[in-house]
Amino acid sequence: MKLFLDTADAAEIRELAATGLVDGVTTNPSLAAKTGRDYSESLKEICSIVSGSVSAEVLATDFDGMLKEGRAAAKIAPNIYVKVPSTWEGMKACRALTDGGARVNVTLCFSPLQAMMAAKAGAAFISPFIGRVDDIGEDGMGLIRDIRAIYDNYGFKTEILAASIRSVSHVREAALAGADISTIPADIFKKLMSHPLTDKGLAAFAADAKKANVTIKV
Ligand code: G3P
Repeated sequence: MKLFLDTADAAEIRELAATGLVDGVTTNPSLAAKTGRDYSESLKEICSIVSGSVSAEVLATDFDGMLKEGRAAAKIAPNIYVKVPSTWEGMKACRALTDGGARVNVTLCFSPLQAMMAAKAGAAFISPFIGRVDDIGEDGMGLIRDIRAIYDNYGFKTEILAASIRSVSHVREAALAGADISTIPADIFKKLMSHPLTDKGLAAFAADAKKANVTIKV
């Protein structure tokens, strides 16, 4: 599974990219607003940190506006993916941008049929928002499983990008459900390697080594 960071904060991305385990980044207008910076400038900096895909979301909701903004965003760096919403206008923009050579991430996906339409419109990524589905008492992970089944039934190559991840368990469940990518907020990404038994085991190894003066010559 590819792991993306779900943030527009360049400092956060720089810190975690040092692990060598960040395969890409997703941003959206709300995440961009949190930084207080110019969105295009942030995207430029993020693209210089991460060589994998960096999703940049359009603000327009009409076809012409999405096309203009999408084309401009795609020019920021070669690894930009343009994010458009799961709407009819978004589908038209997805097809036009894809035909023009851009890669498109279709976002705000809440149903398997939206995901099927996005795949038919040529989307590179589909972003089902699992946390927000759970928020309304429905089954976010079930959405991932349904999309996986539909894509596999028909051989759609669109990658399933599990978004709106709220916990480490969401990442595990999305991997088990067959999502291709999880996009993860930085605080959750940092917890992916945490386990109390690892800490306990390390402490025991260190104590035993100290007692018996076990060393490795370097
Ligand atoms: O990747 C989408 C994400 O940024 C939305 O997450 O937690 O606002 O639903 P959330």
